[in-house]
Amino acid sequence: MEKLLSAESLCKTYILKGNSNNVLRGVDLDISDGEFVCVMGPSGSGKSTLLYTVSGMDAMTSGKVLFGGRDISALSKKELAKLRLNEMGFIFQQMYMLKKLCVLDNILLPGFQTGGDRKQVKERAEQLMRRLGIIDCAEREITEISGGQLQRACLCRALINAPKIIFADEPTGALNSKAAEEVMRELTAANRAGTAVLMITHNVRVAAQSDRVLYLLDGDIQGELQLGRLENEADLTKRERTLNTWLMDRGW
Ligand SMILES: Nc1ncnc2c1ncn2[C@@H]1O[C@H](COP(=O)(O)OP(=O)(O)OP(=O)(O)O)[C@@H](O)[C@H]1O
Ligand SMILES: [Mg+2]
Repeated sequence: MEKLLSAESLCKTYILKGNSNNVLRGVDLDISDGEFVCVMGPSGSGKSTLLYTVSGMDAMTSGKVLFGGRDISALSKKELAKLRLNEMGFIFQQMYMLKKLCVLDNILLPGFQTGGDRKQVKERAEQLMRRLGIIDCAEREITEISGGQLQRACLCRALINAPKIIFADEPTGALNSKAAEEVMRELTAANRAGTAVLMITHNVRVAAQSDRVLYLLDGDIQGELQLGRLENEADLTKRERTLNTWLMDRGW
């Protein structure tokens, strides 16, 4: 499979009150077209930082990130914004929804920004909202919905432009198991249709559905478990067990 995203010796250092904190310490990472990869690791190990830097949301301190063969640090701000709008979808811990717009308009916005047919974009948005059980929230303000509904609205927004990759930071974190399953079903459907997924999760059952799990510790990838494609639900329990054992060996 073609390489979609790669990071080489990726470093990120935060400086707080004169103290530097090396949060990413030379991460190497490859994601293929259509691959579904999960990132696990303890709190503070640098997972969110990794997602922010490989997606160009935040600047890296050193290293290189290639997306579709293009060096993202060589892109202008405008080129990077266009790449993100057209080819990437985001579900982050801080959701960045616009408070002045209703839920539906937030989902439509990136669809309209690409200059697509408005009617088609609206139909797609409504279809996604229906599938995720939040169609009743369409006209509501962002502040008038629950955390779980907001998270699902973010998934709709991330999918609206049919991106090449979705970056998701604990997209099932605030959800009960039914809503989490709906989110996973939608993410998996997008993945089966060819969208790569790079997702952070603390949930073993969720991670067991991915092709590959990376373990991040102290700012570096300390292990990698190849699970391969999940072909049928019956395999899930076995995969979950394999992943659990692997995580325990890493002090999870
Ligand atoms: N903007 C920032 N400025 C300074 N330090 C930061 C900043 N963002 C994160 N950090 C620090 O970088 C380290 C890694 O943070 P990060 O958010 O990547 O962890 P994480 O693995 O996603 O954790 P969690 O599972 O709790 O979400 C932490 O020590 C955090 O305090
Ligand atoms: Mg995080």
